[in-house]
Amino acid sequence: MVKVNVVDPKGRIHTIEANEGEPLMHSIRDAGLPMLASCGGNCACATCHVLVPAEIANVFTDRSEAEIELLQDSDYFQEPLSRLACQMIVVEAIDGITIEIPPSY
Ligand code: FES
Repeated sequence: MVKVNVVDPKGRIHTIEANEGEPLMHSIRDAGLPMLASCGGNCACATCHVLVPAEIANVFTDRSEAEIELLQDSDYFQEPLSRLACQMIVVEAIDGITIEIPPSY
């Protein structure tokens, strides 16, 4: 388990526990935070959009073309901070990071 701080769209900070090897989206959603993830993690909806600190972006796998296209169509898209949480596999190196759910959700 790693701990991740999540800033919700209202600016409140929540510390959640995330399971290594699983998509970060699962832990955010299971914690009851506002994340629709309406496609269930199939990289088809962009409702799991999060903003990730640039300094830890390289610990995750690179964005696929499908992820990039979805993000570019999203409100609040920010290069290079935007990611889809369903495409981010939790690794120990992210313990203690703070990510943000954009205010559109
Ligand atoms: S849950 Fe739909 S793109 Fe991530």
